[in-house]
Amino acid sequence: MAATRTLPASWFTSQNLYDLEVRAVFDKAWYLLGPVTRFVADSEVEYEIAGTAFTVHHNGNESFTTTRASDSTTLPHYVTPTGLLFTTISPSAPPFTSYFPSSLLELLNKRDFRKLPHRRSLAYPGKFNWKTMVDGYQECLHCQYTHRSFSVKYPPSFYEADNQDTYTRHIVDPKKPDDGLFLYFYPICTLNLYGGGMSSFRVCPGNGSEGVKGKVGESRMEFDYYFDDGQGGTEGFEEYFQFVRRVALEDFELCETAQRNLERGVYSQGCLNGEKEKGVVREYFPLLFFSVSPSRTHCLTVFASLCFQLPHLPRRSLGFSNISKNPCPF
Ligand SMILES: [Fe+2]
Repeated sequence: MAATRTLPASWFTSQNLYDLEVRAVFDKAWYLLGPVTRFVADSEVEYEIAGTAFTVHHNGNESFTTTRASDSTTLPHYVTPTGLLFTTISPSAPPFTSYFPSSLLELLNKRDFRKLPHRRSLAYPGKFNWKTMVDGYQECLHCQYTHRSFSVKYPPSFYEADNQDTYTRHIVDPKKPDDGLFLYFYPICTLNLYGGGMSSFRVCPGNGSEGVKGKVGESRMEFDYYFDDGQGGTEGFEEYFQFVRRVALEDFELCETAQRNLERGVYSQGCLNGEKEKGVVREYFPLLFFSVSPSRTHCLTVFASLCFQLPHLPRRSLGFSNISKNPCPF
């Protein structure tokens, strides 16, 4: 596979482009909120994504109502057969079964996500664009030198990113299908089974609030942790939690550093290994081709034309020409 480049720095620093993403990407997307065990019956959980606040009410018996805070609109949601809850933040999003390829349900249906109880949730702000975190998640070349404890337990002798349109499956060891499974759901959600438990995180863009989309260079990390010791208890949970938190904090530091360099002009555009970082390349494809309308050709034209109108985004900074004309020397 030919080597390519990352998106230019402007995609990580332009407030105008971020505002465009809210309409073209986030309003059209589906979001993993977690397994149904996250939601206690007859109670609500509050969320905010890209300036849209909403609540998820568990009515009992895995019946959910997702309500937008601004106008009480009921938002489309979807519970997979094995117990994962996805939602939208706008009625304008396509149906779940159109947004994700059918292979996703085939993959998810191999696991019973109802088995692991919810144990803990965390949320905190980060000074980085949402794509900065996703770029890091979508490749594991950095794992050897950044995540030393992780690399000891999961040696990088085999690593594969299987890109499937709007999701990516990362496989650490194909001989251990129940350990070391990492799923990325375009654009901001992940599900991670490793270290003896399960976690999910969302990179909430802009770190906004109801009606406030937030800033291009900020995000809010939201983590949910699930664990069972085999007897319905929490024996070993703290050990698991410390292990996965260390990995998360190592990534957090990398992202804040990378964003600072993007904003200062130190880092304008990076090279991608076309084989070992193809997950990053794939992350960009929906961003460019999938976000505005079901017609991808039309959507690319609309999206590109909108971007061209941004005064400080020169045509070449969109990355379309850079990908083919400036290959990296990998
Ligand atoms: Fe990482």
